[in-house]
Amino acid sequence: MTEQNVLDALKNVIYPGFTKDIVTFGFVKDIVVKNTTVGLMLDITSSAAEVENELIGNATKALEEAGFEEIHVNINAPQASRQMSNSVSGKNIAPHIKNFVMVSSGKGGVGKSTTSVNIAIALAKQGKKVGLLDADIYGPNIPRMMGVDDKKPEVQGSKLLPLKAYGVEIMSMGSITEEGEALIWRGSMIMKAIEQFLRDIIWSELDVLIIDMPPGTGDAQLSLAQAVPITAGITVTTPQEVSLDDSRRSLNMFKKLDIPTAGIIENMSGFICPSCDTKSDIFGMDTSAAVAKEFDTELMASIPIEPAIRIGGDTGLPIAYHKPDSETGRRYQEAATKLWEFIEKVNAEDLAGNAGVQPTTPPGVSACSTGGSAAAVPAKAAEGESCGTGCGCH
Ligand SMILES: Nc1ncnc2c1ncn2[C@@H]1O[C@H](COP(=O)(O)OP(=O)(O)OP(=O)(O)O)[C@@H](O)[C@H]1O
Ligand SMILES: [Mg+2]
Repeated sequence: MTEQNVLDALKNVIYPGFTKDIVTFGFVKDIVVKNTTVGLMLDITSSAAEVENELIGNATKALEEAGFEEIHVNINAPQASRQMSNSVSGKNIAPHIKNFVMVSSGKGGVGKSTTSVNIAIALAKQGKKVGLLDADIYGPNIPRMMGVDDKKPEVQGSKLLPLKAYGVEIMSMGSITEEGEALIWRGSMIMKAIEQFLRDIIWSELDVLIIDMPPGTGDAQLSLAQAVPITAGITVTTPQEVSLDDSRRSLNMFKKLDIPTAGIIENMSGFICPSCDTKSDIFGMDTSAAVAKEFDTELMASIPIEPAIRIGGDTGLPIAYHKPDSETGRRYQEAATKLWEFIEKVNAEDLAGNAGVQPTTPPGVSACSTGGSAAAVPAKAAEGESCGTGCGCH
């Protein structure tokens, strides 16, 4: 008997309340096969005892039917109680990282990666231990922006050491795949990739991990929110009205995923002409403050369109490091200070926790059912978006 026999058998075991099987979800780990004896670990996201029992029963049965005689199915489930050093509830697969910040936007190209890079550097300059995770697995830009695009992470056993630049630890899909390679991801693969970025990278004991998200409000955002308790969400937007609509989508996503919202960064807010030093209004300006108010949060910074920002991104010389005393450099510093104050408030008031977005459903109740109770909904995701469970969100 082989590992493949085990996986083939377990593909018949559906995760309770969902439409996908436990292999597709990536829950089956540490398989050991010796003749007709098998041992394995199911690394699940639910802490409900009913889910555990049902999974052990169904997995054992599927393996027996496949011809295994001695079967050991172990379960690794998150503890229902608090497990972090700081104030959180729910699941945390990277407990040595004290705080997680999700940098998001309703649409692409508004400057999430630029913001993530510069805020990470600004926080590191303020003495914090900072990591920067490029969770944009489709279009990883962080290695180039941080000037580490020619470096590969060192392997240590089955784990990877993060790269380091400007006082910040960095990991990106771009650092482990070939440049320009097209990656096609299914929802379950996104979940697995994000979990591996948190679990299988040897991050230091970080004060904060800044996470640069892919655009939109989809599988990656949900998977991340289920894997670790996000301490703070930042929405990046540009000032046009249409962008603000997208920004509202991102802010609504934070609400639905129980992510405390630190605020909005209005990027490309006016243009500073490098030769004449005057400011022109290209996409509009100062439109985000009203949206911030609408969501009871704040405008953390307005960052102008500035060639030095784009050049900094293209050449791996971020403005927060190379021109910290420029007006824009100072604004990133201010945004970092506000972010840290917010993080401290969230921790002091116990506001971070992802227990409410775990895919826990009572056994036998379909997570896809709209008729079920609120508890049967797999997770809260933005309207009209996939929630990554394979059955849509309601
Ligand atoms: N304030 C700014 N001034 C000038 N150029 C900027 C500014 N902000 C971002 N850029 C440039 O705009 C481009 C898009 O920015 P960035 O990659 O940060 O956006 P993004 O939201 O992460 O995009 P994606 O959704 O594709 O991940 C980059 O070339 C970046 O250097
Ligand atoms: Mg980006």
